Amino acid sequence: MDCCQTSSLCFLILIPFALFALLVSYFIVTRPKSWCNCETCQTYLTLRWCKDHVNLCDWYSHLLRNSPTRTIHIHVLGNTITANPDNVEYMLKTRFENFPKGKPFSTILGDFLGRGIFNVDGDLWRFQRKMASLELDRFSVRSYAFEIVNFEIEERLIPLLLSVSGKEITAGVLDFQDVFKRFSFDCICKFSFGLDPMCLELSLPLSEFALSFDLASKLSAERAMKASPLVWKIKRLLNLGSEKKLKEAINMIDVLAQEVINQKRKIGYSSIHKDLLSRFMRTVHDDKYLRDIIVSFLLAGRDTVASALSSFFWLVANHPQVGSEIYEEANRVIGSQEITSFDQMRELHYLNAAIHESMRLYPPIQFDSKFCQEDDLLPDGTFVKSGTRVTYHPYAMGRMEDIWGPDCLEYKPERWLRGGIFVLENSFKYPVFQAGLRVCLGKEMALLELKTVALSLLRRFKIELAAPTGNPVLRFSPGLTATISGGLPVTVREISCKAAPI
Ligand code: HEM
Repeated sequence: MDCCQTSSLCFLILIPFALFALLVSYFIVTRPKSWCNCETCQTYLTLRWCKDHVNLCDWYSHLLRNSPTRTIHIHVLGNTITANPDNVEYMLKTRFENFPKGKPFSTILGDFLGRGIFNVDGDLWRFQRKMASLELDRFSVRSYAFEIVNFEIEERLIPLLLSVSGKEITAGVLDFQDVFKRFSFDCICKFSFGLDPMCLELSLPLSEFALSFDLASKLSAERAMKASPLVWKIKRLLNLGSEKKLKEAINMIDVLAQEVINQKRKIGYSSIHKDLLSRFMRTVHDDKYLRDIIVSFLLAGRDTVASALSSFFWLVANHPQVGSEIYEEANRVIGSQEITSFDQMRELHYLNAAIHESMRLYPPIQFDSKFCQEDDLLPDGTFVKSGTRVTYHPYAMGRMEDIWGPDCLEYKPERWLRGGIFVLENSFKYPVFQAGLRVCLGKEMALLELKTVALSLLRRFKIELAAPTGNPVLRFSPGLTATISGGLPVTVREISCKAAPI
C-alpha cells in the first residue's frame, strides 16, 4: 500500500470519528435544559395533558387561569408563559428593548424566514418596518386593498361557492379553510407583489409555492415544540426525515420567490407600482434579502387571514343568530346595495364586534415568544432570567375571567358594543395583533378583508357545517398560525337574492 492509499484509508476511518466527536461536542454545547420533576413539566413531557384538553393551548389556558399571577413556567422548555396584561404591556412597550425575538427564535425559523421582518430585531427590523409602514399607512392603500379584495370575492369566491351551492350534501361539501387559504394567498400576493397566483381558480392545481409554504411553516413550528433543539439540529446536519423535507420545501420556496423577483424585474417596480415589493426593490438589491421579505409578508398576510375567517365561520355556524344580526345590520345601514367603500364598512358596528369577538376566542397567532436579554422582573413579580423565553398568550388571555368576565368562554359580539357603537378593548388585554412597538402592520388591511368576506358570504349564502361534531372546541394542528385539524367542511346554499331576508 503506497503512502497515498494509506492516508486515504486513514481519512476514511477518521471521518466517522470526527462526525461522532462533532455530535458529542454539539450535544454538550446545546444540551437540553435540566430534567424537571415538577408536575407541570411531567405532564408536558408525558403528554398527560391530552387526557383532559383538546389542544396544548387549552391546557396552558387552564394552568394560567389557576395561577394567581396569571403566569406559569414550563421549566423543561425554559419558558415563562403569561396571560397578564400588565406583563404584556411591560414586554411589548415599557421594556421593549429587553424582550427582542432573540437568537434562539431566529435560529428555529432562520432557514424558512431568513432575515424577513418576522425573524429579526434591531436595524434589520427597523428598516423593514419603516419601509412597510410607509406603504401600508398611505391612505390610497386602503382603496387599493379594497379593490383587490372585492375583485377576488366577486370574480372568484362567489362563483366558486355558486358552483357548489345547493348540490347534494356530498357533492356540495367545500373545505372552507382551504378555500380561505387560496383566497388570502391571492389577495396577499396581489397586494404585496402585484402578481396574481390565481389559487382560487379551482381548475388550476394549487400553486407549489402555497404547498411548500404550508409544509415549511408546519415543520418549522414543530422545531419550536421540541424540549431540546438537539434533535432537529442533528437531523438537519445529517439531512434526515422532517429536516430533509423542510430543506426541500425551502428550496422550492427559494426557486419560486426568485421567480417572483424576476417577474417583477420584467414588469417593473418604479414608483407607479403600488405594491410593497416594488417599494422594497427600489432600495434593496440583494435577492436573498428580497426573498426573505417576500416570505415574511406571505406568512403575515395569508395564514392569519385564512385562520381568522375559518374560526369566524365555524363560530357563526354554531351561533346562527349572529349571522342573522350581521345580515339585518347590513340591510338597515346600507340597504340592498353592495358595500362600495372602506368607510361604509366602519358603520357596521355589529359586524366589527363579531369579527373581533371571534379572534378573541380563536386568535390566528395563539402565542408569541420573546427572549429576555437581561435579568428582569415582570410587573406581577415574576423574575425572568436573561436568555430565557417569555411568551404572551392571546389564546389564553381570551379565556380569562378577570379580563372578560364570567361569560368569557361564550361567543358574544355584544360585549364589544356600548350603545350600539363598537368600542375597541385595550390592546394589551387583546394582543391578537400584538401591541406596542411591533404591532401588526397589516391590521387595517386584515380587518377590511375579514369584514368584506364575512359580509359578502353571509348576505348571499346559508353556510352550515357539513358534519357538526357537537364538539364545543376546535382542534388545531401544529403550525405557526392556528390551523383547524381536518379543515372546515361546510355546505353552502344560495339565499335566493342578495338582500332577501333569511
Ligand atoms: C387576521 C389577520 C392578522 C393577524 C391576527 C395578525 C397578527 C399579527 C401578530 C400577532 C403579529 C406579531 C407577530 C410576531 O411578532 O411574531 C403581526 C405582525 C405583522 N403583521 Fe400581522 N396579522 C394579520 C394580518 C396581517 C396582514 C394581512 C399583513 C400584511 C399586509 C400583516 C403584516 C404584518 C407584519 C409586516 C408584521 C410584522 C410587524 C413587525 O414585526 O414590526 N399582518 N401580525
